[in-house]
Amino acid sequence: MEKAMISPSILAADFARLGADVADVQSRGIEYLHIDVMDGAFVPNISFGPDVMKSLNGIASVPYDVHLMIEDPDRYIEKFVTDNTEFITVHYEACSDLSHTLEHIHSLGIKAGVSIKPGTAPEVLNPWLGDIDLILVMSVEPGFGGQKFMENSVPKISYYSSKKAENGYGYIIEVDGGIGPANAHIVRDAGVELIVAGSAVFKAADRTEAIKAIKG
Ligand code: DX5
Ligand code: ZN
Repeated sequence: MEKAMISPSILAADFARLGADVADVQSRGIEYLHIDVMDGAFVPNISFGPDVMKSLNGIASVPYDVHLMIEDPDRYIEKFVTDNTEFITVHYEACSDLSHTLEHIHSLGIKAGVSIKPGTAPEVLNPWLGDIDLILVMSVEPGFGGQKFMENSVPKISYYSSKKAENGYGYIIEVDGGIGPANAHIVRDAGVELIVAGSAVFKAADRTEAIKAIKG
């Protein structure tokens, strides 16, 4: 049984006490904080902007794993660059020139991730597999936390895991949406290396147990 890293999504945190909630969760053994940015255009929801993330700069003791669910992300990439930002992930479906966007993120010294929605075939990323640092496979339709895990994400994880093994690519494989202690083993066994979990961590009765069970 493979182990994975975990990146709890602050979208599921208590926004009325965001700093305290993040401080609590990160004290329980996590590797990243997942920052879900939604613009109400690419996805039918609005979450928060760069200033909310930056309000955590003095609190966050783990790097930011930024997930931009926004149209034309090049407009805002600089806004999410902080000393604590490790990944900025854009959606394949939101970019008119993915090569340019990846170069843009890398020019800022930040690792570049690309995410695909459940309806997008994994092969679309083939031209860029040698250039990206992270692939984010969505296991829910982006836009909301607390949704049901979609099994059709599993073959995509296996696909990227095989491609990585065959070609020695450097990207890490992340999965996002509907994952908790009961189903995390499915994606771990398929080869995922980093798991996003929002409600399964922030809403857990025992957050430490939830994190341990998800990581394996
Ligand atoms: C959905 C977001 C996910 C979501 C995960 O658009 O990208 O990161 O917040 O939340 P859970 O783990 O509750 O599905
Ligand atoms: Zn996300």
